[in-house]
Amino acid sequence: MAHAGTLSIEHLRKQYEVKGEPLPVLEDITLSIAPGEFVSIVGASGCGKSTLLRLVVGLEEDYKGEILLDGKRVAGTSLDRGIVFQEHRLFPWLTVEQNIRMALLNANLTESEKRRTVREHIGLVGLAGFETAFPHQLSGGMSQRVAIARALVTRPEILLLDEPFGALDALTRAYLQQELHRIWQAEGITMILVTHDVEEAIYLGDRVV
Ligand SMILES: Nc1ncnc2c1ncn2[C@@H]1O[C@H](COP(=O)(O)OP(=O)(O)O)[C@@H](O)[C@H]1O
Ligand SMILES: [Mg+2]
Repeated sequence: MAHAGTLSIEHLRKQYEVKGEPLPVLEDITLSIAPGEFVSIVGASGCGKSTLLRLVVGLEEDYKGEILLDGKRVAGTSLDRGIVFQEHRLFPWLTVEQNIRMALLNANLTESEKRRTVREHIGLVGLAGFETAFPHQLSGGMSQRVAIARALVTRPEILLLDEPFGALDALTRAYLQQELHRIWQAEGITMILVTHDVEEAIYLGDRVV
């Protein structure tokens, strides 16, 4: 029996079509990730890292091979998989609290449960006191914290991170790497981090692919 959050990628192939010509991007990728593991994926720009994450999160569904979560084929996006991108992608007209709460739109929770879990996640990423701030009032690092809280608030089994600190200055980046490590330990969920920074990959990953 697979455990909750076991990801198996088997003989994955993905190609895009560019001007009528096939562009192979991923060829025969096989990778198994255990529940609670932190895996870093490193590679040069354009090698297909974001494509791989988009496939796992279900934003892209046209592929060959298998992507299985707990033995079931991944089809479409789901609350069991969260993602953080390089840009925070917050709604500028919503507060921190409202942005995180948007992720719970389809969650099966009461209003008070939603309020409580949003508050808990704001605390988890160290932003207590900024509930009613708008994105333009936050630094880049704080905005990325909100994006992490938004991705975690649905309690996913897997958190996917696509170069989440790539746009931050070196000090903020180092600090958020420590914070991510702390959050990973606190939450005990599977994390897959895509980065082109080898040091970051080694510092955070149990395993580097
Ligand atoms: N939607 C798309 N249509 C066509 N080609 C794409 C598309 N998305 C990505 N590609 C191509 O696929 C390759 C891998 O892209 P990507 O997964 O973004 O790489 P990485 O994240 O490793 O930099 C690149 O050559 C890119 O141009
Ligand atoms: Mg990319």
